[in-house]
Amino acid sequence: MKTAITELFDIEHPIIQGGMHYVGFAELAAAVSNAGGLGIITGLTQRTPELLAKEIARCHDLTDKPFGVNLTFLPAFTAPPYPEYIAAIREGGIKIVETAGRSPEQYMPALKAACIKVIHKCTSVRHSLKAEKIGCDAVSVDGFECGGHPGEDDVPNMILLPRAAEELKIPFVASGGMADARSLVAALAMGAAGMNMGTRFIATKEAPVHDNVKNALVAASELDTRLVMRALRNTERVLKNAAVDRLLEIEREKGSKLQIADIHEEVAGVYPKVMIEGKMDAGAWSCGMVVGLIHDIPTVKELIDRIMVDAERLIRERLMGFLGADGKASLRVA
Ligand SMILES: Cc1cc2nc3c(=O)[nH]c(=O)nc-3n(C[C@H](O)[C@H](O)[C@H](O)COP(=O)(O)O)c2cc1C
Repeated sequence: MKTAITELFDIEHPIIQGGMHYVGFAELAAAVSNAGGLGIITGLTQRTPELLAKEIARCHDLTDKPFGVNLTFLPAFTAPPYPEYIAAIREGGIKIVETAGRSPEQYMPALKAACIKVIHKCTSVRHSLKAEKIGCDAVSVDGFECGGHPGEDDVPNMILLPRAAEELKIPFVASGGMADARSLVAALAMGAAGMNMGTRFIATKEAPVHDNVKNALVAASELDTRLVMRALRNTERVLKNAAVDRLLEIEREKGSKLQIADIHEEVAGVYPKVMIEGKMDAGAWSCGMVVGLIHDIPTVKELIDRIMVDAERLIRERLMGFLGADGKASLRVA
């Protein structure tokens, strides 16, 4: 399939694997790129720029295809050394960066000087337009259903994607709630040039996380995510578990007086415990509502091939079937 996104990133299929803390290691990024999508290493999971350089080198050993690096700009007391991370990205020969969180404006000159294409992940039309204005090459439009940080506007993709299509000139991919061929075809119909998946890629054979995590995703339904940290304006969609129940109880008690210190135990240092050790109740970890559409643990290639084969069938049989034999709509409009 050819779209503005496959052309921009020189990939076969318009499917991107979004950066995911303690999931986006070289194994997963390479598997996605080898299967014709765009794999992304999560930059800040590597604790230092030197470790990121090693992870990039490891990924180059696993694939000859293009892959990217995610750089997340979140509020932090001590900001990570972003210029050094960007140097590791540049020196590692990376040509695609997925930015997320705050605007990447301050780092655009350095990224552009290295001929790096930037896709910024945004949860609103106004942030997408800002990304376009500062020179991003594409945006990943992340709807309210998404795993991770959906922002504070709560606009789901059924509205957000057509709104983005109305306003943007640069190409965009649909992100949040994407799982299969139906998601891809719907996203294309709403004006996107591809899709970005997070949660769905965790339940794959190559995702380097504990089996408990993959099994929890298969077992969960679309009713099993919760929003936390709204009072801090740092809303995160997470999978419900014992720690999240406790966290929500604290949030109810504290109301608008909630401070990050109140929920430190439930949100700090959680990812290695969940993703590596498989301690499913260790704390709050990101998960999208799309979990209700995850019923198996295929290889990344099986997943991507299935999406592309089913998408073609959906378009040719279901959608074309609504048209008459001459290709004109057979429904009469009065
Ligand atoms: C476990 C997990 C960790 C994530 N970590 C990050 C991250 O570190 N940086 C980032 O930009 N997005 C992160 N995301 C968001 C994803 O890149 C992607 O935008 C999101 O998962 C899309 O929604 P979906 O889960 O419905 O596919 C994370 C998502 C999950 C599920």
